[in-house]
Amino acid sequence: MIELTDICKVFSTDEIETYALNGINLKVEKGDFVSVMGPSGCGKSTLLNIIGLLDTPTGGRLTVEGTDTGGLTDKELARMRNGEFGFIFQSFHLIPSLNILQNVELPMLYSHEKLTSREIRERAMGLIEKVGLESRAKHHASQLSGGQCQRAAIARAMITHPHVLLADEPTGNLDSRMGREIMDLLIRLNVEGTTIVMVTHDAKLASEATVRVTMSDGEITSVDRSGMQKTEMR
Ligand SMILES: Nc1ncnc2c1ncn2[C@@H]1O[C@H](COP(=O)(O)OP(=O)(O)OP(=O)(O)O)[C@@H](O)[C@H]1O
Ligand SMILES: [Mg+2]
Repeated sequence: MIELTDICKVFSTDEIETYALNGINLKVEKGDFVSVMGPSGCGKSTLLNIIGLLDTPTGGRLTVEGTDTGGLTDKELARMRNGEFGFIFQSFHLIPSLNILQNVELPMLYSHEKLTSREIRERAMGLIEKVGLESRAKHHASQLSGGQCQRAAIARAMITHPHVLLADEPTGNLDSRMGREIMDLLIRLNVEGTTIVMVTHDAKLASEATVRVTMSDGEITSVDRSGMQKTEMR
């Protein structure tokens, strides 16, 4: 589904070049739940941004669903990004002036799937129910707990029906109980067919993924596909 071959990323300014990724090789198959661990600054977020077409590599090849993304225009990249990927972040990135329902509906403004506003509302409400926030749809982010905000962000990420959910430390701002809730929700989405790539500092949560990647200094140091975490858990 996603294949990275010898991916490199160098951030250059006038004075300094930072080698954020040095020759990353990784395959993500449909249905995988990939966790990515590694020390601060080792390139995890950079890797996620490149997979999600938010940033471009300075070397190597990234193939998404059989398409070599190196040959795509910005417009084609944006189209593929919107169709393929959903994003969630440590700090939720909800828009404070909009209520939860409006936040969840928002990505449909940029979607190539043309739905009526009524269809969008129905889809958004379905997702809000799915993440357990039906009584909070008209609330604003400031009126919700951290865990509730992250659940809203997950509903927003899922509204375009992405094939792949990219999560950068989704439990990083949450206590362990709320982190557990978010992980359970991600596992549920994965079982229902969404491929997930999750960066985390939590070794316990990382161990529950079906593919466990560790990074150090811009390189992948191990990829562990062994074990049957998923089936054991369910
Ligand atoms: N826009 C940028 N310009 C210059 N250097 C950058 C930029 N973004 C990231 N870097 C550098 O690239 C390296 C990898 O950063 P990245 O954010 O991917 O690390 P990370 O593994 O996600 O760290 P953390 O766990 O702290 O989030 C770091 O050395 C960082 O300083
Ligand atoms: Mg990071």
